[in-house]
Amino acid sequence: MERVVILKVGGSVITEKDKPFTVRTEGIQVVAEAIAEYSKPLFVVHGAGSFGHFLAKKYGLSRKPSNVKPEAVSEIRASVLKLNSIVVDAIQSKGVNLYWLQPYAFYRDERSREKLASLLMKLIEKGVSPLSFGDVIPTEDGFRIISGDEIVRDLASLLKPSRVVFATNVDGIYRNFRTDKKPIQEILVEDIKALVFRPVRDDVTGGMKGKLVETIRIAEIGVNVLFTNGLKKERLIKALKGKDPDGTLVKGRVVA
Ligand code: IPE
Repeated sequence: MERVVILKVGGSVITEKDKPFTVRTEGIQVVAEAIAEYSKPLFVVHGAGSFGHFLAKKYGLSRKPSNVKPEAVSEIRASVLKLNSIVVDAIQSKGVNLYWLQPYAFYRDERSREKLASLLMKLIEKGVSPLSFGDVIPTEDGFRIISGDEIVRDLASLLKPSRVVFATNVDGIYRNFRTDKKPIQEILVEDIKALVFRPVRDDVTGGMKGKLVETIRIAEIGVNVLFTNGLKKERLIKALKGKDPDGTLVKGRVVA
């Protein structure tokens, strides 16, 4: 059985990040077509973009559990699900068979990880692509945001994919986001660590620090991570196929 590919579609590809509750229709189309043309089962995770972050900020909800007002929880969830249904419809209308999974399904019971992994792999073997998304989830100590990047990191350790692809609205990872014209082509996980945690004020990540922290954790378990522009179909397909990407390849640590 071929190992699966995990694709994270950033909120910046499928929504207008600066306009609350606005979809980026051409981005959704590009992603849907790329997934259909790739034509092998994938695990897709998408972000919330402007359907999630504005409300999360408004209500002060973050990745740390907190006791926010009940309306915060239901409002954010409704908004995220609205975007989710648009994305799911667009992908399925291209003939891709998805199985929609709310992230809470992965996080409610740590003990059933192996069972979950085997169920997910069965779905994939049958030609059905699971799809999940950044969301708000209940915890013992209140509600919290679970980002799509965090879900991808946890899925990577669960499923040991052949690669993880992050599709964003930029071409890759830059050494200096403000001054460099081109992104880094290929980098070892050790080197990206030095880049992300170096004590200088340059904006290395262009707001991607959280994503890079998750990337390091994924690459450290031996999985390659590719960054590509999710608004460019051919590049996205190439990255999904693991071909020399137009973007950045973060080489996973070789594990014995
Ligand atoms: C955020 O998910 C989820 C909510 C704010 C509810 P992500 O963090 O994965 O979203 P993007 O990709 O940054 O937009």
